[in-house]
Amino acid sequence: MKQILTFEEIENNVEVQTYLKYADYAFSSMGYKEHGSSHALYSATVACQVLRDLGYDQRQQELAKIAAYVHDIGLFIGKQDHAQSSAVIFLNIINKDRYDGDAFSIVGAIGCHEDKCFAPVSEIAAALVIGDKTDMRYERARTKDPFCLDKHGRVLLACKKVDVVVKKEKMKIELHLKIDTMICSVMDYFEIFMGRTNYCRKASDVLKCNFELYINEDKFL
Ligand SMILES: [Fe+2]
Ligand SMILES: [Fe+2]
Repeated sequence: MKQILTFEEIENNVEVQTYLKYADYAFSSMGYKEHGSSHALYSATVACQVLRDLGYDQRQQELAKIAAYVHDIGLFIGKQDHAQSSAVIFLNIINKDRYDGDAFSIVGAIGCHEDKCFAPVSEIAAALVIGDKTDMRYERARTKDPFCLDKHGRVLLACKKVDVVVKKEKMKIELHLKIDTMICSVMDYFEIFMGRTNYCRKASDVLKCNFELYINEDKFL
């Protein structure tokens, strides 16, 4: 009997952990923010939480969790087209005899996660995007000294708290950020992260929800 894909299996897969480790090495050498198992786990946890809180079934939640966990494993090859390399690597990890609807829905979600001009291809992809693009935790910055960082790094360092709140009764997905304005201004946030914020909006549309952004308790979207 074919073994069903589980998050536990993928999280404990030695190849997955190795790829995440080397993806993070590559990004570390570029001075770019953390992209290893911490980002993978945050993205997976939020993707699963979003579908759970909106009432999707457990299998959908698990597929989103798996897709979000492995969405950046191809980064060790390079940043360019890493959504596609991550998807192909995932297929290689699970072997052909396990290719089925679940596997391909994971692959499709991974493959579209950087296509910011288009809506995510499925609810699983949308949940992955919200998990990935809301990961603005300051812990991901490589240094805690704002003077050693570019503007992108400073905005990240300023994000002292990130909360994704799903309100099913109102069909809303809220992103609450606490930004230290001694490190960067709210305008800097919009300059750097507008693309990802709009992508969260597109993802929320796929989930039939409105996306709302709060910064320091003020509503901006
Ligand atoms: Fe990515
Ligand atoms: Fe990512």
